[in-house]
Amino acid sequence: MTLIAILPGDGIGPEVTREARLVLEVLDLGLAFEEAAVGGAAYHAGGHPLPPATLDLARRAEAILFGAVGDPTCDALDRHLRPEQAILGLRKELTLFANLRPAKLFAGLEDASALRPEVARAIDLLIVRELNGDVYFGEKGMRTTPAGLREGYDVMSYDEGEVRRIAIAGFEAARRRRGKLCSVDKANVLETSQLWRDVMIETAADYADVALTHLYVDNAAMQLVRDPGQFDVIVTGNLFGDILSDQASMCVGSIGLLPSASLDAAGKGLYEPIHGSAPDIAGQGRANPCAAILSAAMLLRHSLGLAEPADRIEAAVATALAAGHRTADLGGTASTQAMGEAVRAAL
Ligand code: IPM
Ligand code: MG
Repeated sequence: MTLIAILPGDGIGPEVTREARLVLEVLDLGLAFEEAAVGGAAYHAGGHPLPPATLDLARRAEAILFGAVGDPTCDALDRHLRPEQAILGLRKELTLFANLRPAKLFAGLEDASALRPEVARAIDLLIVRELNGDVYFGEKGMRTTPAGLREGYDVMSYDEGEVRRIAIAGFEAARRRRGKLCSVDKANVLETSQLWRDVMIETAADYADVALTHLYVDNAAMQLVRDPGQFDVIVTGNLFGDILSDQASMCVGSIGLLPSASLDAAGKGLYEPIHGSAPDIAGQGRANPCAAILSAAMLLRHSLGLAEPADRIEAAVATALAAGHRTADLGGTASTQAMGEAVRAAL
């Protein structure tokens, strides 16, 4: 039996992950599931957001289905004890450096997009976000300036090896899609970005079939709402990718729709919706489970090589949405569970 780790986490994490697991169970693929606490839930239960047993399960499993972390009651804790450290720790410990965040408009959701229908309809892009470096993992701290002022600092850096491996992930993804790769950086200001751009250009020599372009991140943010149809694959660093993927989600209607895969060099992966724990609606059955369900589809495709059932899940989500099933984020009244059931019925 193939072992899948289920890490539901905080807020709406458990309710959306439950629907995704039920979808996998309906497909009857011979998967075994084992669940463990992570994030604020794990902190409250045992004093640490990423307990050794959870990390051990993540290592043992073939793939990980992750919910969300984030808990306002933990905001005053030392940073190393905060829920977010669990997901950052998993990404780092398991070397999950390549984060794939696809965004495509589902038919019938034109009205939910923040963009005009004719602009939104053209969206079919993939953000390849670097996940193991950048300002997220550099030296950070609080200190006092000579003038006695408090100062916070976070060091941004990438070495060329880190850039090269995500460049390759970006080029490979573009090669499998429409052959266009747009690298997003801030090379007009940041040395980190200059190296990023240099390595992208060097790597392009091995991918004559892929057209590489570059955008500064401010321009990329603008282009993403002006004409998102121009993008095929976007490759970018950890911080810029975090921001641009939330922006992309509203272009296709809701942050409740975007799944993600975080992969290591061997294809092992952690799969999670890009949304957070949404504590304001947690436990009310209002969260959209589609991002979690689509993450389960990515798990089948990328970690288990099961493309056919992955396609079926994605088609079932499209069918359920086209039939008018909508959670509150999409202007509808369906509960989390009802939305999950609609997808399973379409399977
Ligand atoms: C994401 C989230 C995380 C990130 C948080 C929860 C640490 O926003 O996966 O996009 O910043 O990477
Ligand atoms: Mg984010």
